Amino acid sequence: MEASVIKKPSRKIEVLSDLEALSFRAASIFVNASRSSMASKKRFVVAVSGGTTPRRLYALLGSETYRDQVDWQHVHFFWADERCVPKEDEASNFKMASDTLLSRVALPDKNIHRIKGEEAPDQAARDYEEEMKRFFEGSERPGFDLVILGMGEDGHTASLFPGLRSIEETVRLAIPVYLGEPKKDRISLTLPVLNNADQILFLVAGVSKAAVLSEILGDGKRKGGFPAGLIRPAHGNITWLIDQEAAAKLGGIRSH
Ligand code: 6PG
Repeated sequence: MEASVIKKPSRKIEVLSDLEALSFRAASIFVNASRSSMASKKRFVVAVSGGTTPRRLYALLGSETYRDQVDWQHVHFFWADERCVPKEDEASNFKMASDTLLSRVALPDKNIHRIKGEEAPDQAARDYEEEMKRFFEGSERPGFDLVILGMGEDGHTASLFPGLRSIEETVRLAIPVYLGEPKKDRISLTLPVLNNADQILFLVAGVSKAAVLSEILGDGKRKGGFPAGLIRPAHGNITWLIDQEAAAKLGGIRSH
C-alpha cells in the first residue's frame, strides 16, 4: 500500500535590506518555484497582485537576467485581484503586469487568464470563477502553484479589506468587492482559494507597513482583524519577504 504524503504548512520570514534586494530574492523564488512545478506538473500556475511593491519584481522577471530562466510557454497567469477599470487604465493590475512583464516574455496569449475589470463587478467575478473552474477542472478548488500578495497599510491583501464581509466567503472562488465608487470597486479571489495555494509569497516594503505587520506576524490580539493575517495556507508554504523599513517593529520574530 502506498503511503500518503501529508504536507505540513510552513512559514518563513526573510528580511531584506530594501525593495531592490527584496525584488531580486522574489525573482529567484519565482524561478525556483517555476522549475519545481514544471518538473512535477509540466506547468506553472501563478496568481499575481497589483500595487507598487511587485513592479520591480515583474520588471526583473522580464529582464535579460531572468527572462531565459523560466519556461514561459508553460506558465499561466491569473490575478489575485483586479480593479474594476478597463484593461488599458493605469489602475489596472493586468496592465501593470502586462507592461512590466507579460509583453516582454514569450507567454502565449491563451495562458493569460485576466479578470475582466471592464465588466460589471458581479459579472466579472462570475466569469473569472468560470475561467478557474475550466482551467482547474477535476479539482475541488483552484490550486495555484504560487500566489504573490502584497499588504496594504490597513492590513488588506488582494482586495480583501478589513471590516468587509468578503473575508467570510467560504463558497465562492472570486467575489466582487464594492468600495463605494464604481471606479474603486474590485474583484478578489477569496480566502479559501488563496489558502489552497502551494506557495504564497508576500512582498511588504516601507515603513508605513511596520505597525500592522508586527500585529500580523507577532502575537498581536488584532491579528484576526487583518485580512493579510488570515492568509494561512492549508497545506502549502508561506514566505514573507520584508524590507528593513517594514520590519522595523518585528523585534525577534523570524522564521518558524
Ligand atoms: C492591489 C493589490 C493590493 C496590494 C496592496 C499593497 O491591486 O492594489 O493587489 O492588495 O497588494 O494594496 O499595495 P502596495 O504594493 O502598493 O503597497
